[in-house]
Amino acid sequence: MKLKPVLLVLSAALSFNAYAQAPIVIKFSHVVATDTPKGQAAERFKQLAEKATNGRVKVEVYPNSQLYKDKEELEALQLGAVQMLAPSLAKFGPLGVKEFEAFDLPYIFPSKTALYNVTEGEIGKSLLKKLEPKGITGLAFWDNGFKVMSANKPLRAPADFKGLKMRIQSSKVLDAQMRALGANPQVLAFSEVYQALQTGVVDGTENPPSNMYTQKMHEVQKYVTVSNHGYLGYAVIVNKKFWDGLPADIRVALDKAMKDATTFEKAIAQRDNDLALEAIKKAGKTEIYTLSVKEQADWRKALLPVQQQMEGRIGKDLISAINKEAAK
Ligand code: LMR
Repeated sequence: MKLKPVLLVLSAALSFNAYAQAPIVIKFSHVVATDTPKGQAAERFKQLAEKATNGRVKVEVYPNSQLYKDKEELEALQLGAVQMLAPSLAKFGPLGVKEFEAFDLPYIFPSKTALYNVTEGEIGKSLLKKLEPKGITGLAFWDNGFKVMSANKPLRAPADFKGLKMRIQSSKVLDAQMRALGANPQVLAFSEVYQALQTGVVDGTENPPSNMYTQKMHEVQKYVTVSNHGYLGYAVIVNKKFWDGLPADIRVALDKAMKDATTFEKAIAQRDNDLALEAIKKAGKTEIYTLSVKEQADWRKALLPVQQQMEGRIGKDLISAINKEAAK
């Protein structure tokens, strides 16, 4: 028997085996620090996914906008340059899925239970479905928390915002929210916020304490108001073509890993925000003020009209469906 054909078959088998064993790589890019609810959950997903697939999948997590900033990361996902993201629900408007901005409406969620009624229910499912025509598959909702406001002057009454330049995420609802307070909204990528606060490009901002603390924003903000006026959360998304192209057993294993990472993420979110607020207090550079019941009522009066104002953009039916679900 001639040696050459045997060698050919052997080398083909070897290279096929090498190809077959090359791990499927998931690049998971995000814009926050690792020691945040989202950052830790991304690492947890990595561990769970690699274990559940016996190494047939390799998850590379890129935190802190290492690979892409807010806007670019969604484009990169659609192009398949990265496979997984967990953007804030406030950043889907530019993608053309304005309904996600419903999550930004002031005071729309009276509690986390109300939020989960929406994200874990039919409304959540139908919103994720809206991403599919964009070449994106939604896997889960991850939690961060209710936002605080910060600036270098005390923010106790709506009138205190007059003329302030306030950084927001790329959401028309947040734009309307800041205008309702008499402030000038400025959209900036998350990775640019600290420097913009430090140099005075903007005067203040809003975020859950975990983001404020891990980005050291408190070091350049003298006053924080615990207002809980709005919510910040995430949708974990993948490139649809990549996800549909996965071997079925791998997709099942990744789905399970995502479910477990999501349970973990929701369990740590509130704790991490409480710890971050404590750490900001302890750092001693920022005065933390919690609104009184009367002041809360004044903020509500100023901000609740934003819900009606945004009906045209988000959809009256969706807003009332969320209010109904949240009231359960
Ligand atoms: C922000 O831009 O403030 C947040 O969306 C960042 C994040 O992903 O939590």
